[in-house]
Amino acid sequence: MGMQVDRRDRRVKNIVSHPHKVKREDREKIKKQKGCVIWLTGLSGSGKSTIANELEYFLNQKEYHTYLLDGDNIREGLNKDLHFSKKDRQENIRRIAEVAKLFLDAGIITITAFISPFEKDREKVKEIINPKNFIEVFIDTPLEICIKRDPKGLYKKALNKEIADFTGIDSPYEKPKNPQIHIKPHKESLKDSVDKIVSFLRKRKIIDA
Ligand code: ADX
Repeated sequence: MGMQVDRRDRRVKNIVSHPHKVKREDREKIKKQKGCVIWLTGLSGSGKSTIANELEYFLNQKEYHTYLLDGDNIREGLNKDLHFSKKDRQENIRRIAEVAKLFLDAGIITITAFISPFEKDREKVKEIINPKNFIEVFIDTPLEICIKRDPKGLYKKALNKEIADFTGIDSPYEKPKNPQIHIKPHKESLKDSVDKIVSFLRKRKIIDA
């Protein structure tokens, strides 16, 4: 059904795609790697950006081609028109999924670090990217610890009602039910967390053993 609507939509808008001569596999081949999307989800202050950064650093040192999409380069640029209502978060995540899909097609190991609090939106991402390219990583730091850490002082503001719709306070976070990788940063070192993701990439033959 989705496909049909899609086709009709393209006809109405007169969109005809031109097949690319260079394919994803060709781009991957000269990079000596497989592209994938490593999708980190978790509360604000759970450690997503820290883990994403260390993971990218590790892969870059090993000369893999990577890119990290996170709040800094997306919410301040492409998505600066979006706020934190359910609808805006949905659009935020949809656009990020579409951007990640392009990076994937470029043969890049793409890491994303967004709260992405809603199950339905993450399911949509999986659909856009294709489940076989999508690795969901749950950064499972309990809310109480995030509140205690409060690196940006935002939980304090949210608890004082100076910010509305804050995830974990007055906006929900729906935990992933079946993440491929489950990380508990409060119970393991940063290195252990990164190692878990790296071993998964090796097992999947995305990077060399
Ligand atoms: S998402 O829900 O749409 O995935 P995203 O990861 O892009 O969120 O942005 C979250 C970051 O924005 C937080 O880490 C925090 O620094 C900041 N932020 C500002 N307002 C809010 C809010 N109401 N809820 C959550 N995060 C907020």
